[in-house]
Amino acid sequence: MLFRFLKPYNICFSVCLLPLFGIVFDMIFDNLGPDPVQALHIRLGDWSLRMLWLTLFITPIQKITLWQGMAQYRKLLGLYTFFYASLHVVVYLWLDQGLAWGAIATDIIESSYIWFGVLAFLIVLALAITTPKAMVKLLGKNWKKLHRNIYIASIAVIIHYYWQLKGNMAEPLFYLIILVILLGFRLAVWFKNRKFTKMMIPTTRKIKVVKLDSSVNQTLAGQSKTIVIEEVDTEAET
Ligand code: HEM
Repeated sequence: MLFRFLKPYNICFSVCLLPLFGIVFDMIFDNLGPDPVQALHIRLGDWSLRMLWLTLFITPIQKITLWQGMAQYRKLLGLYTFFYASLHVVVYLWLDQGLAWGAIATDIIESSYIWFGVLAFLIVLALAITTPKAMVKLLGKNWKKLHRNIYIASIAVIIHYYWQLKGNMAEPLFYLIILVILLGFRLAVWFKNRKFTKMMIPTTRKIKVVKLDSSVNQTLAGQSKTIVIEEVDTEAET
């Protein structure tokens, strides 16, 4: 029973819940400091950002290790990003602003950094809603296009983070450097696949031989050969 649970996916699922347990623990034991609501809000925002960054790590790992099983972790971490972001927003709306919608509207209009938080949240919400397999099927090719907006969300989050900061810049700088590396990696892959290949060897298209027609063996010595080919999608995964 325990062994069945100790699968990498289940371990990852449980580990991602630990920050929430830590926050609840600190709430129960009154350990959140002089301004508990602000501490709660900041910690949930921080964890949403960390989950988003971890989600962005999956594709480079997949590209380097060629391990296809990573997709389920990308999905899991993406959903945790949404989960922590939702709690961050709920704390803001409910505990911080007391659901006073007029004050909330004024705060959002006056605080430019919140616009970027709202933009990031709307994107993460759209990605979470379209995560189920049925939505992937329904959206077809548009699904991938939609999910590429994760890059816009990550840039919006870093602006949201920087803009409201008053003190120590070391931590946001660390996240910014990681984001630049992650987006740089994707840009390099995109450039290699899309532009470089086309510019350098325009006549070459990667193909994968799927199967040989049964008649090929008999006709190898003759004039015509039939093979069934399928184009390999060289596009980078999001
Ligand atoms: C994906 C969406 C979002 C992420 C990842 C996110 C993340 C963050 C992060 C990392 C911080 C800084 C915490 C720190 O100082 O260490 C923050 C602060 C803040 N966020 Fe967000 N946020 C998101 C969406 C939103 C939304 C939609 C709102 C409001 C409608 C919002 C309101 C705020 C406010 C008011 C602060 C300042 C907290 C304070 O200093 O008291 N955020 N957020």
